[in-house]
Amino acid sequence: MAANIITSIQALTIAAQEMRAAGKTIGLVPTMGALHEGHLSLIRRARAENDVVFVSIFVNPVQFNNQEDLVKYPRTLDNDVRLIGDNADYIFAPSVEEVFPAPPAEQFDFGSVANVMEGAARPGHFNGVGVIVGRLFHWVNPHNSYFGEKDYQQIAVIRELVRQCQFTTHIIPCPIVREPNGLAMSSRNRRLTPEEFETAAQIHQILVKSTEIKGDVPEIKAFVESEIAKVPAFTLDYFEMADDTTLQTVHSFSEAKGVMGFITVYIGAVRLIDNIRYR
Ligand code: PAF
Repeated sequence: MAANIITSIQALTIAAQEMRAAGKTIGLVPTMGALHEGHLSLIRRARAENDVVFVSIFVNPVQFNNQEDLVKYPRTLDNDVRLIGDNADYIFAPSVEEVFPAPPAEQFDFGSVANVMEGAARPGHFNGVGVIVGRLFHWVNPHNSYFGEKDYQQIAVIRELVRQCQFTTHIIPCPIVREPNGLAMSSRNRRLTPEEFETAAQIHQILVKSTEIKGDVPEIKAFVESEIAKVPAFTLDYFEMADDTTLQTVHSFSEAKGVMGFITVYIGAVRLIDNIRYR
């Protein structure tokens, strides 16, 4: 059966409360729409692991620190609903006025996981993510919530949100889904020209090659930075190697049990992020 489309918070909370009262497990997949195979993998996993699936589709204005990005963000609700098909029971697609009848007052302090990388590059971004995800958790009270690992730091921030606000939902991280050329799937990929789309695949290719470097953190950093610099279409925003839990920079593999690389590259005005595990 096709999903019910809900636009009001009241209808959302009633539906979720009824499902809980009936003893059903609830899975939530928060999205901003413009769905691709990455989102669909989260939705299918939620479908497999829960009795009832809620998908939210809301381009959250308060997490955009760049107005051009907000304006250009693709809005494709009809196609999103078609792609979801019967993999969700409820699609929550509210207006901005429904979610924010007044500017949100929530001010979070997510601490050190939120101050580095995306948090440093995009002031206010994680607070805006916390605002919408916190409200969704409050309205739906899901047993399980699904997030893609392309936004690895976002997952760390959301875990901190859950801890600070004492939500009971389990956070389920899901692996990055890639285009056949290796580019991490992202709604922003639609803004790339066909040529840029092919060039962008080199981000992942360079990261994969960097895992084969015989050396410590400085050698890997130098390799990635110089390979990215060789591609004229790329402007590197940052490449950081960090502890996979605290997200703090490491200068040597000896400093952390798990080490990951986090990259942000501009192609023209499009900002792409990706990550890779080293240890
Ligand atoms: O990852 C996203 O698409 C967004 O940050 C999220 C979690 C849906 C909140 O708006």
